Amino acid sequence: MKAIVQDEYGAPDDVLELRDIDPPAPEDSSVLVRVDATSVNPADWHLIRGVPYIARLQLGLRRPHHTVPGCDVAGQVEAVGANVTGFRPGDEVFGSPFLRGFGTFAEYVCVPADLLTHKPENLSFEQAAAVPLAATTALQGLRDHGRIGPGKHVLIVGAAGGVGTFAVQLAEHWGAEVTGVCGTGNADLVRSLGADHVIDYTRVDFTRGARRYDVVFQLSGTRAPSDYLRVLTPGGTLVLAGGDSDGRWIGAVDRLLAARLLAPFVSQRLTSLTVAPSTADLALLRDVIEAGEVTPVIDRSYRLDELPAAIRYLEQGHARGKIVIVP
Ligand SMILES: NC(=O)c1ccc[n+]([C@@H]2O[C@H](COP(=O)([O-])OP(=O)(O)OC[C@H]3O[C@@H](n4cnc5c(N)ncnc54)[C@H](OP(=O)(O)O)[C@@H]3O)[C@@H](O)[C@H]2O)c1
Repeated sequence: MKAIVQDEYGAPDDVLELRDIDPPAPEDSSVLVRVDATSVNPADWHLIRGVPYIARLQLGLRRPHHTVPGCDVAGQVEAVGANVTGFRPGDEVFGSPFLRGFGTFAEYVCVPADLLTHKPENLSFEQAAAVPLAATTALQGLRDHGRIGPGKHVLIVGAAGGVGTFAVQLAEHWGAEVTGVCGTGNADLVRSLGADHVIDYTRVDFTRGARRYDVVFQLSGTRAPSDYLRVLTPGGTLVLAGGDSDGRWIGAVDRLLAARLLAPFVSQRLTSLTVAPSTADLALLRDVIEAGEVTPVIDRSYRLDELPAAIRYLEQGHARGKIVIVP
């Protein structure tokens, strides 16, 4: 099969190679999926470049443990392991083997069965591949960490990106009052997803505004946790999920450490998120997608052999929704 292989860490154009390799064979509890589409996530370029270096403790110190990267898949079941009961060859599925094998930048991938579920019927493979990691991050950030609900005021910083476009729709679906932070060119997009208010971060410093939020979901930008305290209600919650950082050693971990140090001295709850994909959450996402409450936003598509270009585009930090890869 064709796959994108990386033997070492480095720039996508230098280390990613399209090669012919043997397809994987499913283990007892996994499913072999024909990849009809996949998508790119910031996690991919962290894995490909091996930065921040602290991530190598998990990904492989000198070279990546997993030589085929890729976090999202939508496709058809080819074969199932001996212990798998929920899937049959021909089923249309989607899921994310993030941190549990990766490997979706290929024609076939083996995915643990507890990370897959049946694809939403109203989505193409291309649309479905945009969902797993990004939408699960949005769901777990808002529901589990933010504990949002009807009437809660939520600020989503990075509302136009892969995670943010799902977060805006999910928060609206759960009845929150949503304010999205994005650049000038994306205000209409974020409004069209249902945001009640939009703040253009290139013109307005939202940390200086009068409005207070019950939840701040931080996905993009370089703000320190202390900046967000100014706009949180006294009992509000800051959910740190990502954001930009030039630090090659610990990256955005400095923000998490700052939040840990601040937490005992403030009335607000400061939390951070590491997404953990699951079948249950994917099934919930499938339900809201099939109900028409959430629709993936696709910025653009690339072919598998164009993956370095797709990663280069993602690394610029201004994707509008998701970037999808088709074989
Ligand atoms: N913790 C976890 O488990 C987890 C899981 C998934 C993702 N993440 C992290 O979450 C973050 C978002 O992921 P993603 O997939 O959404 O990334 P993405 O698609 O690359 O995000 C791009 C978006 O960020 C926006 N943006 C850039 N600078 C901004 C700023 N200063 N203020 C507000 N928006 C800004 C851009 O909007 P404009 O073009 O309008 O500027 C663009 O729409 C990343 O840091 C990623 O690593 C964490």
